[in-house]
Amino acid sequence: MTDKILTFSSEKQSIVTGSALPDDCEPDIISLRPQHFSDYIGQPEMVETLKIAIEAAKQRSEPIEHVLFHGPPGLGKTTMAHIIASEMGGKLTVTSGPALEKGGDLVGVLTHLGEGDILFIDEIHRTPKAVEEFLYPAMEDFAIDFVFDKGVHARSHRYRLKHFTLVGATTRVGMLSSPLRDRFGIFKSLDFYSENDLINITRRSAKLLGLSIDDESALELAKRSRGTPRIVNRLLKRVRDYAQVRSDGTISVETVEAALALEGVDKVGLTNLDRSYIDTIIKFYNGGPVGIDAIAATLQEESDTLVDVVEPFLLKMGFIIRTSSGRKVSETAYRHFGIK
Ligand code: ADE
Repeated sequence: MTDKILTFSSEKQSIVTGSALPDDCEPDIISLRPQHFSDYIGQPEMVETLKIAIEAAKQRSEPIEHVLFHGPPGLGKTTMAHIIASEMGGKLTVTSGPALEKGGDLVGVLTHLGEGDILFIDEIHRTPKAVEEFLYPAMEDFAIDFVFDKGVHARSHRYRLKHFTLVGATTRVGMLSSPLRDRFGIFKSLDFYSENDLINITRRSAKLLGLSIDDESALELAKRSRGTPRIVNRLLKRVRDYAQVRSDGTISVETVEAALALEGVDKVGLTNLDRSYIDTIIKFYNGGPVGIDAIAATLQEESDTLVDVVEPFLLKMGFIIRTSSGRKVSETAYRHFGIK
């Protein structure tokens, strides 16, 4: 395998980005990832749609249709691709839009897929246009068209592919071209998880890591993890380390509070970057409305990080409002931060 496959996002990250960090590829994270629907907690409508599609495809002895997942980082898009592959009994190949730099990169991956295999393309909205052109016939006709020569001498050769399933994931569904979007048979948006789901995910992960955690501590972690399983698992590990080194190894509400204070994570899961974002709009732009590029420039952050990682949770909390003339800080945020 080349490093173009099994490649994840390399955007600027902090402990609460929700994006995959190198740490997430360690053996213990692999085992935290549910492998089957029976281990999966949350997103009941999506799970039901996929269970039906998989069952129906299996009954017809066909691969499941191409699936597109949309939603903020860390909500389980990659996990779902793993589950689809294991439930269908196919091999999973993982790559990402930015890793597919040339048509040849994608052709190499496609030609190695077997019947019923799953190809997962993360950040599919960042696939270069020239590469995307190869995806259309691959998705629709399970073929690649090679064109030789130009003008009157142009000839094309069709290479047949095995019947595979493409699972695409994106944080920006609006950036997908319509020819690509239209070739997916199943389209699912992942939502932030409820507090109850996150408590159950924390309990499950703690058990897998051999930790004991009381209900109050699990609730405290759930409240501070921005509705995101990847974050709750990451914070649980930081709390585990803190309890081990600074306490007697027991996880309590006090260790959760102390460990997360050290990480700059507050009672509702806001981080230093969230606070700076809100602060910038209030101090420099009078509470808004202000364009995302201006906020990014003032904060010296990538605007993609703000849009993909910071804003979805602030919007969900009702702390910011997106208007046609830019972002505005809401009354709720002024109240939460105690600003007049
Ligand atoms: N770990 C991460 N996401 C999970 C989920 N949705 N269910 C169970 N464990 C998880």
